[in-house]
Order: sequence, then structure tokens, then C-alpha cells
Amino acid sequence: MTTALITGATAGIGAAFARRLAGRGYHLVLAARNTDRLWREATELHDRHGVEADVVTADLATEEGISAVEDRLNSREHPVDLLVNNAGFGNKGRYLEVSVADELTMLKVHCEAVLRLTSAATASMCERGRGGVINVASVAAFFPRGTYGASKAWVTQFTQGAAKDLAGQGVRLMALCPGFVRTEFHDRAGMDSTGIPRWMWLDADQVVETALQDLARGKVLSVPDPRYKALLGASRLIPRGVLAKASSTTGRKYGPK
Ligand SMILES: NC(=O)c1ccc[n+]([C@@H]2O[C@H](COP(=O)([O-])OP(=O)(O)OC[C@H]3O[C@@H](n4cnc5c(N)ncnc54)[C@H](OP(=O)(O)O)[C@@H]3O)[C@@H](O)[C@H]2O)c1
Repeated sequence: MTTALITGATAGIGAAFARRLAGRGYHLVLAARNTDRLWREATELHDRHGVEADVVTADLATEEGISAVEDRLNSREHPVDLLVNNAGFGNKGRYLEVSVADELTMLKVHCEAVLRLTSAATASMCERGRGGVINVASVAAFFPRGTYGASKAWVTQFTQGAAKDLAGQGVRLMALCPGFVRTEFHDRAGMDSTGIPRWMWLDADQVVETALQDLARGKVLSVPDPRYKALLGASRLIPRGVLAKASSTTGRKYGPK
């Protein structure tokens, strides 16, 4: 029996992970804040794929929410074989337009929760000598882009470092760095994404398929899609100041307050 726990499983990339892993026969533990949505999704995946699907209602911006998911990861009776730390969001506005409280909430969800859940999962995976963790970062990790980009840079660096430290123990860790993906993310953040060129948009199911292939190949960093691989390669040749200007404007138009 193989079980995957996915945070932020009710929408976008997390829901795509849930669908894809259920299709592969994984039993699921779905975590997010909206209980009704979690149960709807769990029931649908159970009915369609015959897998067990449980839910954990958890706000990962809170101590109780992080602890609830940690407790589930610490279960010896029902071990988790694959953790996908995916929950995340964007704040509406640039630096100083966003309150410090909201910036800290982002760090709690994107960094503290990822650190604590990865640690809970890998501790028990190392004991069993097998398991995997996918931490969803972003290509924003490689560009100056406010607290969002900085938090995703932390996720990427942390994951790469932890993967090295745990090498040889049968546990795989991978940072997933997609570009723009069509999900609820931009609407939720109040972003006007109409100016983002069509070629930059990725499909969540394809991102997930590539991520799972990359994890199976033992990659520690996954940048799905050749367009974004090329963009990252080219970005290394561009002066940092020019890059900062481009990345602080691309896709950062916000709707009315
Ligand atoms: N879309 C993109 O262009 C893009 C690109 C690169 C990276 N990413 C990253 O991909 C991940 C998933 O984003 P997405 O695009 O799929 O976004 P999405 O469609 O808005 O889905 C976000 C998911 O996270 C959950 N969530 C949000 N805040 C939470 C919290 N405090 N506690 C627990 N769950 C929470 C949401 O459910 P509830 O509201 O029910 O809690 C939802 O299931 C994020 O980490 C994001 O930074 C997205």
C-alpha cells in the first residue's frame, strides 16, 4: 500500500497531483483549509479510482494546522510514502503595499510549514529506508520577485541541501519549479494575468506528470517544460539589474483594490 499526502490538494497543481497519484493507485491524504471541498474531492477520487482518500483540514498559516499535518505524517500505523508540499498563495501587491503580517503569513506557509512537514515525513521515511518529498517552489525562485520569490528560493535551496544530507538513505527530495500555471492562484491573489503571454502558460496536469517522471529519475530540481528551461538558461546571461526589472513587472499587474 502506497500513500501520498498532498497539501493544497483542493485546487490547481495540488488537485492535479491528487488526480494523477490516485490514477497510479496511491491512497491519498488531502490537506487544505476548505473541508467541504476536501471531502468532495476525496469522494470523487475514491469513487473513480477505488483508492482510499482521507482528509486533514488544516490552515498551514497556523500552529494548529501545521501540527495536524505533522501528526498525520508521524503516524507509524499509516505511514506516508510521498509528501507533496504544495499549498501556497500570492499576496496582492508589491513590497510595502503588502502588510508585514501578510508577508509573515506567506513565510509561515511557504517556509515554516514546508520545513516542519518535510522533517516529519523524512524522519519516518529514513527509518523505513524509502519515500519521497516534492516541495513545490517556482521559477520565481531564480528571479528577484519580492517575498514570494525569496520564499520559493528558500524552498529550492532547502530541498537541494536536505536531498544531499539524506543521500543514500532511500529517500528522494525534489524541488518543483514551474512557470505560470493556469490555476486559481492568480485570481486568488487579485492579479490581472491578462498581460502574461500565452506561451508562458503551463497546464497543471502536464506539470505534475513531468514532476513525477523527474522524481522517478532521481532529479533534485525539476523545471517542467523546455520553454522555462531555456528561459532560465538565458537569464544567466542577462545582467542582474535588467533581470530584476523584468521579473518585478512580468505578471504583477493587480486588479482594483
Ligand atoms: N499557478 C502558478 O502559476 C504557480 C507557478 C509556480 C508555482 N506555483 C506554486 O504552486 C503551488 C500551488 O499553487 P496553485 O497555482 O495550484 O494555486 P491554487 O490553485 O490557488 O491552489 C492553492 C491550494 O493551496 C491551498 N492553500 C492555500 N493557502 C493555504 C493555507 N494557508 N493552508 C492550507 N492550504 C492552503 C488551497 O486550498 P484552501 O483555500 O482550501 O486552503 C488550494 O488547495 C503554490 O505553492 C504556488 O506558489 C504556482
